[in-house]
Amino acid sequence: MNRQMHLNLFIHSRGHHEASWRHPAASRLPLTDIRYYQDLAQRAEAAHFDSIFLADQLALGDDVAQAARTWLEPITVLAAVAAATSRIGLIATASTTYTEPFNLARQYASLDHISNGRVGWNIVTSWLAAAARNYGGDGPLSHAERYVRGEEFMSVVKALWDSWGDDAVVDDREGGVYAREDRIRPIDHRGDYYQAAGPLNIPRCPQGRPVMVQAGSSDTGRRFAARHAEAVFTAHMEKATAQAFYADLKQLVEAEGRPRDQALILPGLSPMIGSTEAEAQRLSRELNELADPEVGRRRLSGRFGGYEFSHLPLDRPLSPSDFPDPKTVEAARSRTEVIIGLVRREKLTLRQLLASLAGARGHFTMAGTPEQVADLMEDWFTGGAADGFNIMPPILPQMLDVFVAEVVPLLQRRGLFRTEYTGETLRDHYGLVRPVGMRA
Ligand SMILES: Cc1cc2nc3c(=O)[nH]c(=O)nc-3n(C[C@H](O)[C@H](O)[C@H](O)COP(=O)(O)O)c2cc1C
Repeated sequence: MNRQMHLNLFIHSRGHHEASWRHPAASRLPLTDIRYYQDLAQRAEAAHFDSIFLADQLALGDDVAQAARTWLEPITVLAAVAAATSRIGLIATASTTYTEPFNLARQYASLDHISNGRVGWNIVTSWLAAAARNYGGDGPLSHAERYVRGEEFMSVVKALWDSWGDDAVVDDREGGVYAREDRIRPIDHRGDYYQAAGPLNIPRCPQGRPVMVQAGSSDTGRRFAARHAEAVFTAHMEKATAQAFYADLKQLVEAEGRPRDQALILPGLSPMIGSTEAEAQRLSRELNELADPEVGRRRLSGRFGGYEFSHLPLDRPLSPSDFPDPKTVEAARSRTEVIIGLVRREKLTLRQLLASLAGARGHFTMAGTPEQVADLMEDWFTGGAADGFNIMPPILPQMLDVFVAEVVPLLQRRGLFRTEYTGETLRDHYGLVRPVGMRA
């Protein structure tokens, strides 16, 4: 069989466009209604998507007055979505900086049992300054320290997931033996940041370990991904940077002694789809007109770790000198590079930059026909830029429905996407090997 692409549905607010929550075509359900998430996952499952993804941040955004950025706690949501679906993979973000490895290992092992092997963990180190204030800290840890801590965190959670042999539970009612003690082992971890005795208090999960996902694209983030990630989410605004990222990360994965196909690279794609290009562009304009540039300005400041943009006029062309050096940014470093790159290339005004980020926060956006979207996906997929896509519909559920009805069949006809599920677990869908567990 030919290589096929992987599709993840990134569920965010009522769509990825900043103003989607106000749009008449967006869902009428409250964002706190679990049926909203269950319904979207069911739609994606009916189209044989590999997975859905829920992001998370550990603080309320300061633009809540004009932006629907509230969300339910994703691990809880995934449990409810697991019960409403049967095949689609379920990925949620959790932070290595603001929890203990034992908590996280339990929660994801539980989810993997609840979903019969469909769970993935998006590993983040949490760049948001406001998150630190909710966890007793005075300020965020530095970019470097977050990753050093994250590295130790990974070794602890992996050891906890491996602390039960696959064959530890015998559940022998007649013989009176529930589990084999020789197949459950402590981990006795004592490190610089964490101490955990283990073993975990839950049997090894169906996938051995949940699928590991990562989305940091800075140098440090890439090296972290090369060691741990089995799927990588990444944001690009042009094919050339996506190709460079793809080549670099695959090479780093190989340098870690891992096969290239065991780390899938899924750039974000936010397509506004119309029956003609003019119609798609009209829909995009309609949404952009609903976006408030002052909300965008505050969000930009958050991305750059609180850097002030309030003095910049909206309609003068920007230059890279209007921004801080990305190396000094302790927040989401790689995204700041994407933004400055765009300013350098396209000499945008602040108003234009904010409109372009309003679409999908620095991910690739396009407005076009189903054929144009399918052509772009095929071009990136066959041209060394992607193993699949993180689909980020600008309006939910409307643009997911259009994507499923109009683009997915084109991809299937071209042999680029599955027409049915052939496996049961997220590892099956992604073509990932099951980690070898405890040896006898
Ligand atoms: C598709 C995608 C989803 C992300 N989801 C989250 C998230 O849920 N929570 C979070 O704190 N960061 C999230 N991030 C940010 C990254 O995990 C990372 O922190 C950020 O890119 C900065 O890391 P870097 O400095 O290594 O690039 C996401 C990034 C991408 C591309």
